[in-house]
Amino acid sequence: MTAIGTSALRSRVIAANWKMNHGPTAARAFMASFAARYAPLPDRDVLIFPPALSLAAAIAGAGERPPVGFGVQNVYWADKGAFTGESSAPMAKDAGADFVLVGHSERRHVFGETDGDTAKKCAAVERAGLTPLLCVGETLEERDRGTTEEVVLRQLRAGLAELDQREATTSILAYEPVWCIGTGRTATPEDASRIHAVIREGLRDLVGDRARDVRILYGGSVTPDNATSLLAAPEVDGLLVGGASLDVESWLSICTA
Ligand code: 13P
Repeated sequence: MTAIGTSALRSRVIAANWKMNHGPTAARAFMASFAARYAPLPDRDVLIFPPALSLAAAIAGAGERPPVGFGVQNVYWADKGAFTGESSAPMAKDAGADFVLVGHSERRHVFGETDGDTAKKCAAVERAGLTPLLCVGETLEERDRGTTEEVVLRQLRAGLAELDQREATTSILAYEPVWCIGTGRTATPEDASRIHAVIREGLRDLVGDRARDVRILYGGSVTPDNATSLLAAPEVDGLLVGGASLDVESWLSICTA
């Protein structure tokens, strides 16, 4: 894998968020099939975010030299303790994860995660030596009110608030408009480019010129049919894929788009 976050050329990141799909048996079979057929491409990193309970099986299925990196979809910010049902960043690392999704819209809108929570989670992820993949994105209501830019910039600043400049620039970001997630509606490549540019400008205020090194992924109803045009859009450095990452065929064709 390319060293994450160190390239001024911004190698692509194609990431699968399996959400609450693929238990250990299915995860192992998926990764065995994928690893046998995916020849790693030098210009991109492929990341898989299985459910935490399936992480070990997914890693085992990928074989000795996995052509991908692995992450978890969520952690709690404390390292250990009486937090029933939660997992920590050091535990995720011990289980084989290198990346952690933070602030996914389902965490924010289904589980009530706040901007403050995302700050603590990004900090905990960095403390454990893992890389956060911070998700931002507006709801349809916020979009209709014309507050998209304000919302994504607020989520960006809040999520990175407890990181130093180096940590902020080695993080990965994803713009996932909530109205595009699982709905079959996709932002146009032009729309995505425009908001990605806004996010990069916001990053520039935080970390100066190093903002150009940060990968900003697009997510929301990505499919094999729209992956190529989204990836060709200026400022779109990769994709974060839900539903279309669950099938090996469809995921292979997105990874090679
Ligand atoms: P879909 O690709 O299913 O719309 O999900 C997007 C997403 O939430 C990825 O994190």
